[in-house]
Amino acid sequence: MNNGRFKRIVRLTMITKFSNQFHLIHPIALAPMALSSGGALAAACAKAGALGLVGGGYGDLAWTHREYTLATQLLKNDAASHARLGCGFITWKLDENAEALDWVLTQKPCAIMLSFGDPRPYATSVAESGAKLICQVQRLEQVAQAIEAGASVIVAQGGEAGGHGANALEGRSTFTMVPEIADYLAAHSPNTLLLAAGGVADGRGLAAALMLGADGVLIGSRLWATTESLAAQGAKTQATQTNGDGTARSQVFDILRRKNWPAPYDFRAIRNDLHRALEGNVAELKDNPDEARASYDAGVKAGDFSRAHATVGEVVGLITDVPSAADVIARMTQQAQGLLAN
Ligand SMILES: Cc1cc2nc3c(=O)[nH]c(=O)nc-3n(C[C@H](O)[C@H](O)[C@H](O)COP(=O)(O)O)c2cc1C
Repeated sequence: MNNGRFKRIVRLTMITKFSNQFHLIHPIALAPMALSSGGALAAACAKAGALGLVGGGYGDLAWTHREYTLATQLLKNDAASHARLGCGFITWKLDENAEALDWVLTQKPCAIMLSFGDPRPYATSVAESGAKLICQVQRLEQVAQAIEAGASVIVAQGGEAGGHGANALEGRSTFTMVPEIADYLAAHSPNTLLLAAGGVADGRGLAAALMLGADGVLIGSRLWATTESLAAQGAKTQATQTNGDGTARSQVFDILRRKNWPAPYDFRAIRNDLHRALEGNVAELKDNPDEARASYDAGVKAGDFSRAHATVGEVVGLITDVPSAADVIARMTQQAQGLLAN
């Protein structure tokens, strides 16, 4: 191999501060998606060289115990990949019951990600366990609190994201928030790393995030549509047939699911028939939810995604297949490397 070609290959690897500090091969984290990022998906991402975060979600101890243990077992002969395993939780739910977090911390995860609430009450126990703290924010004004909590990494989540995020009044877009937070961190906390979340599904998104000043990306929807994800097959199939116009943010599915989310959060999913029927009168749905809930529950039971929800973000328009997580990560990194090399 001549020297020029060798130099070119070295330049093509995407080593960032994030991949270095977390011993990753790629600057990519799996989002800790409640009920979807189970042990198999987290382990597959860790094996593929990304950060594998189990979706501890609402803090159900039995679910978290089962899925985190599964990931540990799948990685038991692979210390390097096991060192890339962590877990995430919905912070306001921890305020009600933190037993799942307390248990996970005994398993020595490399990282804990907290989203949607004040992370400071959990900072000491996370730090004492040796795990790094990752905090997901939706607005610039939340960054100072995350730094105060000792976050090693801030995740800037734009409104394009699948699942919960800030509503239309409070939410930001990934494209403007990432460079703004990058500048803020450079000025106020230069050792804190930054990941972009919301709208990244391929190498173009990864390369763009790095150009905007992020140290890596956090991927939800694209890794949700993989063979290892625990999402229902019918939901994944619906996602492959839906373009990027086909999702919406609202409170509709939270009301139907009896989830009592605080302001300013709402939820992005595919805007299916039941959502369209209800979205025009959310106040009435809140007051009289029984009939709509019965229809939703029947849809979930039947696997009918014209009524049940498929949780995916605007990147659904870039999701046309359901490959393995390793394939998604390989495609994404190869495309980004090619783009960045040019
Ligand atoms: C199915 C699904 C479930 C999610 N659940 C959680 C969760 O439990 N906790 C959390 O912090 N974020 C959750 N998110 C949001 C992700 O952390 C992340 O911000 C988002 O997926 C990034 O946008 P993308 O979907 O365009 O990749 C979820 C996202 C999806 C798609």
